[in-house]
Amino acid sequence: MQIRLEKYLADSGFGTRSQVKKIIKQGNVFVNGVPEKDGSRRVDTDADEVVCNGKKVGYCEYEYYLLYKPAGIITASRDKTEKTVVDMIESKKRRDLFPVGRLDRDTEGLLLITNDGKLSHELLAPGKHVDKEYIALIEGIIPDYTIERFREGVDIGDEELTKPAELVIYEKVEDTGDDRIKEKYIEITREMNETGQEKNISAIRITITEGRYHEIKRMFEVVGCKVVYLKRISMGKLNLPADMDLGEYIKIDKSDIVS
Ligand code: URA
Repeated sequence: MQIRLEKYLADSGFGTRSQVKKIIKQGNVFVNGVPEKDGSRRVDTDADEVVCNGKKVGYCEYEYYLLYKPAGIITASRDKTEKTVVDMIESKKRRDLFPVGRLDRDTEGLLLITNDGKLSHELLAPGKHVDKEYIALIEGIIPDYTIERFREGVDIGDEELTKPAELVIYEKVEDTGDDRIKEKYIEITREMNETGQEKNISAIRITITEGRYHEIKRMFEVVGCKVVYLKRISMGKLNLPADMDLGEYIKIDKSDIVS
C-alpha cells in the first residue's frame, strides 16, 4: 500500500499529523537510508524502510487487542476527563483504535479493541447475531419462568422484544468455575451481612446476540431482579483467557476473532 509519509508515521504512533510534520522537517526521518523532509512523499508500506528518531518503523494497518476491562473505565476511544478503554492499551501503535461494542462502566470482562471497521461491523451488525456470553450475580429471587421468558424475548421498553437469550442459573457460585465472580460474591455477601441486609444472590450465565443499552440489566429488571455484578466472558469465537488479570490486554490476530 502506498501512503504519505506523514500518515505512515502518525498511524504508527509517532504523534499527530502536525507533530510528525515537525519531526520530518527536523530531518529525523529516513526512507531507505536517505533523509526525507517531504511529508507528502508516498511510501510503500510493504517495501520501503522508514526510520524515525533512530527507530525502525513497521507499518501496521490494523491492530487487534483483547482487553480484560475492569469496572470504572468508560468504553470510549477518548474522553476529555476520564480514562478510556483505549487509553489502557499502552503499547498501541495506531491512533485510530476504538472499542467494538460497549460494556457499561461497571461491567468487567472481554472487550475487543481495534481500528478494523469492517470487522467491527461483522461482529456488531444486528443481522449477524454474534453470541456474547456473560456471567453475573443477580440480587433477588429469579422466577422459575425466567429461562423460558428470556428464550422467547423480553419487552424491555424498546420497540422490539429482545432477541432470544439463553440463561443458565447455577446452583452455587463455584459452579461458574470463575474465580473473579467468587471473589465478588464474597465481597457482596460480606457487605450485606455488615449492613444487616438479607438478599438472595444467584450466579448465572447468559448468552445474548444483541448489544442494546443496559440490555442484561434491563432484562433482569423485568423479572424483578437486579444485576449486581456483570462480566463478559466471550464474544463470538473470542474467549477471555482464564489466566488474564483485570486491566491486562493482549495483542491478538484477526484469525483469533473471525474464521
Ligand atoms: N448488558 C448490560 O446490561 N450491560 C453491559 O455492560 C453489557 C450487557
